[in-house]
Amino acid sequence: MESALNPFSPGSGLRPPALVGRQAEIDAFDLLVARTRGQRPSRGLVLHGLRGVGKTVLLNSFRDQAERADWFIVEIEGRTEASGREAVRQRLARSLVLSARKLQRGKLVSGAVSSALGTVKSFGISLAGPTLQFDVPAATGRADSGRLDVDLEELVEDLAPALSKAASAFAIFVDEMQDLDPELLSALLAVQHRAGQRGWPFYVIGAGLPSLPATLSASKSYAERLYNYRAIAALDEEASIAALSRPAEERGVRFDQQALSMIVSAAGGYPYFLQTYGQAVWDIASDRLITEADAADAIVAGTAELDMGFFPARWERATRSERDYLRAMSESGDAPVRSAVVAERMGVPPSRLSPSRQSLIEKGIIYSPDRGLVAFTVPHMAQFVLRQRE
Ligand SMILES: Nc1ncnc2c1ncn2[C@@H]1O[C@H](COP(=O)(O)OP(=O)(O)OP(=O)(O)O)[C@@H](O)[C@H]1O
Ligand SMILES: [Mg+2]
Repeated sequence: MESALNPFSPGSGLRPPALVGRQAEIDAFDLLVARTRGQRPSRGLVLHGLRGVGKTVLLNSFRDQAERADWFIVEIEGRTEASGREAVRQRLARSLVLSARKLQRGKLVSGAVSSALGTVKSFGISLAGPTLQFDVPAATGRADSGRLDVDLEELVEDLAPALSKAASAFAIFVDEMQDLDPELLSALLAVQHRAGQRGWPFYVIGAGLPSLPATLSASKSYAERLYNYRAIAALDEEASIAALSRPAEERGVRFDQQALSMIVSAAGGYPYFLQTYGQAVWDIASDRLITEADAADAIVAGTAELDMGFFPARWERATRSERDYLRAMSESGDAPVRSAVVAERMGVPPSRLSPSRQSLIEKGIIYSPDRGLVAFTVPHMAQFVLRQRE
């Protein structure tokens, strides 16, 4: 069928044609918005899950919900590169100023909000340097110490209560949160803690890998109680079916029952795979009824597509010795495996593998679901790694 009309959208954070199976999370965020409106702030949300499971899409949907409620919104994304730390600070400053300008033009400008804008300016300068463009006088003695934790707290202390009077809130959305540098992460958690105690409507809304809750707890022991943690898992069968058939039906296209179950089973409930196979089958099908043969061809074409993009995006970042480690892991399939077992398979003492293991964790390719265990962050990665041998 015509590619131009293809509704499926494999990609990073691309809104799917049907956002299915996530109503509980959307409702949880709606509740947060409603409580905030009633001046009863609650815990922020943290989403965690494997690659391609739909965390960024959901985080974006939360952001839209917050925008509709007139919240003051800032968006950042953790970065692993050495330059990431500086880049995130620049982004934070710019995103703050952007929202501050919007606030300045809007209807919520009280005296308190006006003076908080001065604090935004000094915080922005302290983060990004004096070239920051924002046409308000900087507050003196607020958020200008040059110490991130102190300045962030003063920013939140001035801005959040001021917004609260207008039933609004201050939210920082953080994607790939496990990759934030330790200084910024700990400052965010400390301020979140303080805001909770003071009743300020300030939220850090995060998304990241399955290791994220452990990373937060390692930064601040109280992090466990700060957030409503939601594990974002693969979709169940009913939701997977809906992710494929709903967008098709809206365009007058139907799936044969068997074709649908073949694709659902190949995708294993993972949204990125559903979108990839959905896109392939749409392009392959010649008729408005998608057949079993179309599905079989689409699984081959879709898998080839994944082998060229989704998986290599991680595989190619691994060094030769790290790839050996991944190969040894993949003998257990996608299930978590003991690092000691990986070492045994490779015939070397576990201590020799610690650098590879650590580096793969830092690159976000594997994580440790529990002490002594490792697992892939990428669903179906084991099969891909095994295919590389052929
Ligand atoms: N609930 C859903 N239903 C159908 N498709 C979805 C759903 N959520 C996400 N998708 C699709 O899955 C793909 C991956 O989504 P997204 O980028 O949000 O994943 P992610 O968890 O952030 O991945 P990563 O860890 O790699 O950043 C996108 O193509 C998106 O359109
Ligand atoms: Mg993402």
